[in-house]
Parts: sequence; C-alpha cells; structure tokens
Amino acid sequence: MNGNGLSAAYGRVAVLMGGQSAEREVSLKSGRAVLDALLTRGIEAEAVDVDDDVLVRLAAGSYERAYIILHGRGGEDGVIQGALQRIGMPYTGSGVLGSALAMDKYRTKAVWRGVGIPTPESVLIVDEGDLDMAAALGFPLMVKPICEGSSIGMNKVENRTQLHRAWEQARVYDYLVLAERWIVGEEYTTSILQGEALPMIRLETPHLFYDYEAKYSADTTSYHCPCGLDAAQESDLQALCLKAFDAVGASGWGRVDLMLDEQRQPWLIEVNTVPGMTDHSLVPMAARVAGIEFDELVERVLATSLGRDGDE
Ligand SMILES: Nc1ncnc2c1ncn2[C@@H]1O[C@H](COP(=O)(O)OP(=O)(O)O)[C@@H](O)[C@H]1O
Ligand SMILES: [Mg+2]
Repeated sequence: MNGNGLSAAYGRVAVLMGGQSAEREVSLKSGRAVLDALLTRGIEAEAVDVDDDVLVRLAAGSYERAYIILHGRGGEDGVIQGALQRIGMPYTGSGVLGSALAMDKYRTKAVWRGVGIPTPESVLIVDEGDLDMAAALGFPLMVKPICEGSSIGMNKVENRTQLHRAWEQARVYDYLVLAERWIVGEEYTTSILQGEALPMIRLETPHLFYDYEAKYSADTTSYHCPCGLDAAQESDLQALCLKAFDAVGASGWGRVDLMLDEQRQPWLIEVNTVPGMTDHSLVPMAARVAGIEFDELVERVLATSLGRDGDE
C-alpha cells in the first residue's frame, strides 16, 4: 500500500502525549517524533497533550484512533486505555489488563513466578515494619517504587541504613515499594513488535545502574545491537521475553528488560508497554538493526490499533 492508501485506512490519528506523570517530558519528545513520522508517511495526525479534558477534546476532534505515546501513570497503566475503550476509540498497544499489570512491577513478578519465568527475589515494603524482611534477602538490594518508570525514585542499597533512606525516597512516588535482590551481570532489553521479538540490545553504563541520567543524557552509555550473544542463546531469551510479555497480557508492541547474571542465567526485570520512541530510543534502535526504519516502525505500531473492536 502507498502512503495515501494507508492514510485512508487509519483515518485521523490523535497522538496522545505529555500527560501528567513524572515522565511527561520524555513522552513529549517521543510524541513529537511519532507525529513527524506519521505526517511523513502521509497519515493525518495531530498532537493531543493529555489533560483532564482529553476525552472531550478527542470527541470534538473527530479522530478515528489514538496513538498512545504516554509513559507512566495515567497513560501506560490502563487508565487512558479504559477511557478510550469506553468511547469506542481504537488505540495502539496493550489493552487495559496488560497495561495495568505491566505498570505494576510487584504484580508482574508475581505472575511471572506463577508461570515459571525467572525474576529476582523481592519483598514488598508497605511500611517500616517490612524493612527487616527486605534486609533478610541480603544486600545489595535494588529499591524501587512499584509503579514508576525512567529509573525514578530508585536506589541500590548496601546496608540497613541505606535501605531505610531508599525506601523513604521511593515512597515519595508510590506508597508501595519493592526491594529486589541485586543482580550482578549484564543488562539487556528485548523489543517486541506485532508478536515478534526484535534483535536484543545490551546496555552498558559506568553508572551503578541504568539510571535517569544514563537513559536520557549521559554520553557514556553504550548500546550494543547486535548484542553479542550467540544466536541460539539470543533466540531462547527472545522466546522467554515474548512469553513474559504475553504472561502479563501485554500486546501489540513494547519492551522487556532483563539481566544475565555471572552464571549467564536470565532474570526478567520489567515490561514497558509504551517504551520511548525518540529516534535515540531503544525500540527504534532494535528495529533499525532488523531493517525497519523509524517511520516504518511508527506506522507498524499504529497498525496495532487495527482490529480493536472496542470490546477486547
Ligand atoms: N534487581 C536488579 N539488579 C540490578 N540492577 C537492577 C535491578 N532492577 C533494576 N536494575 C537497574 O535499574 C534500571 C531500572 O530498573 P527498572 O526496573 O527497569 O525500572 P524502570 O521502569 O525505571 O526502567 C534497570 O535498567 C537496571 O539497570
Ligand atoms: Mg526499565
């Protein structure tokens, strides 16, 4: 199909971006890149910065579908997905259940454990009384709010005092906090597009972990794609990531973060149902190695909204 044909098939697209989460700025960046790519492909699209009036604005704008490029709470967690479903507007990516579950790192891990997917042992910290149980896992630990992204509110801790401080910092973002066994090893991410895994990326940073700065501003982060694993191990891990994505009910497109410990055993960390989409982001990087240029990737993500009948 040529650009015009596709444009007709998609109708007017609202690119939902911004929002009110801690990741607003990242979303605006991704959103603009997506909007540009759609326009380049001849698809009629407009930016919609999401606020409390978003549904009214969507109804008034006579859009046919929504391209969700919101990160974090309100946009990646099933809330906007449910609202769009209610007004019968097809949207990209995961549905309500997959979005909500993937947003919650604690419950994602519970589901994974239930189906035998390896994920680091962890303790949920609800109040101060749970800190002893977390410390009993053994240090170092990673402390994170269960529903945040972009490494916000996260800290590596080496002892009980640091654990207490990290818990206090994490609960600014979410009253539920996860203390997770620290994995020593290599970090990877697997991008998923329309039911298939793209080439894996290995991430390397001199920081303690892949923190906010390493993600968005440091020039010391390196990305290896192809990732350097042998083909058989890469395809086993891709299959594991697809299973992990599916297990939480995620669909369409997304990314699964994982680590390989020193014994080369995989540990799955989390699922992102609306990963970054600037032309420096990870999914576009993996797609490029698979021979899919940014504009095409953007359109293939849009295609995940086709066939949504609103009662999924
Ligand atoms: N259990 C762990 N052991 C070691 N490093 C971890 C662990 N969990 C997370 N990290 C590091 O922290 C980063 C962010 O963690 P992640 O759970 O993916 O949260 P976010 O949603 O913010 O990306 C990871 O990319 C990794 O570098
Ligand atoms: Mg992550």
